[in-house]
Amino acid sequence: MIRVAFFDAKEYDTRSFEQYGKTEDIEYKFLETKLTEDTAELARGSDVVCVFVNDTVNAAVIDKLYDFGVRLIALRCAGYNNVDVEHAFGKIHVVHVPAYSPYAVAEHAAALLLTSVRRIHKAYNRTRDFNFSISGLAGFDLHGKTAGIIGTGKIGRIFIDICRGFGMNVIAYDAYPAKDSGIEYVSLEELFSRSDVISLHCPLTDETRHMINKASIEKMKKGVVILNTSRGALIDAEALLEGIKARKIGAACLDVYEEEADIFFEDRSGHILNDELLSRLISMPNVIVTSHQAFLTEEALSNIAQTTASNIISCFENDGICDNELCYRCGSIGECRKERRQRCF
Ligand code: NAI
Repeated sequence: MIRVAFFDAKEYDTRSFEQYGKTEDIEYKFLETKLTEDTAELARGSDVVCVFVNDTVNAAVIDKLYDFGVRLIALRCAGYNNVDVEHAFGKIHVVHVPAYSPYAVAEHAAALLLTSVRRIHKAYNRTRDFNFSISGLAGFDLHGKTAGIIGTGKIGRIFIDICRGFGMNVIAYDAYPAKDSGIEYVSLEELFSRSDVISLHCPLTDETRHMINKASIEKMKKGVVILNTSRGALIDAEALLEGIKARKIGAACLDVYEEEADIFFEDRSGHILNDELLSRLISMPNVIVTSHQAFLTEEALSNIAQTTASNIISCFENDGICDNELCYRCGSIGECRKERRQRCF
């Protein structure tokens, strides 16, 4: 039996893993707490830890897990910026779910965009109060506007198709542009200066951290709509707030926030929010915040549970040759042992 300590378990995780991730070889221990240096102890006696976006998997946590006998970190998400993959190399294998529903995230970005530009969030509140006035709700047509997409991977490309469906002109920036894709790639500078809507779909790395900052906002069109369904730290939130206050940014739709780890995914409605910046952003009429829910569809949840379970089984059945392994060495020396069905370490 493979024992899995499942951190940061929410009701929908437990439900989907019980339904789609259950096999006779895996035993889940669902823990409501996040994985941190203090809670790593709870993984003692487990073979695997299953973690999500806001669990801390730094060097200290990895060393503790290794000492406790944990041999696999199974991320139930695509992004892995919270895991020190380099430090884990040689000790603990790391697997992730590279794609569970890129449609879920791209469609959420579209939902945020339409809500924002047609003021649906305002209208909803008004009509619930039997206020049928439409004053102040004028939006703008997306048709004919320019969407600038940063990151043209799985999610970015689906969002591009959605934007084209609206009749938007699409330009894109990617550090590794896709060949023969029919996408018009431009420099970041050009994307900032031409786009009416900017949507972020690249990973968080040292290079992309705070790519939306004071200097980049200065290059943007007045009234630009910024969408972030990728990772919070792609945006310098202080600079974003300044851009909104200066009326430079027309609207911001954020599914992620740099300091979300201790805030998102929990009901804090009865509490005073100790994050002035987030409070200020939420108070703006042209800011929409959702709390990292872009992935949250039934289809994505079942894919996450199935893929995570089969990733775990593959590592134990194939003697450490894991499906969907995040191998630090492959990236660093440009060869992939996995592709030759060899252990990464
Ligand atoms: P992907 O790996 O298919 O695509 C990422 C793209 O970004 C690639 O084309 C890559 O070349 C590009 N890229 C890499 N470095 C770049 C740079 N410095 N500048 C510009 N582009 C760069 O990933 P996918 O599945 O499309 O996901 C994108 C991001 O969405 C993930 O990194 C993750 O952070 C986020 N995400 C958010 C979710 C949510 O619930 N809000 C759920 C799933 C993913």
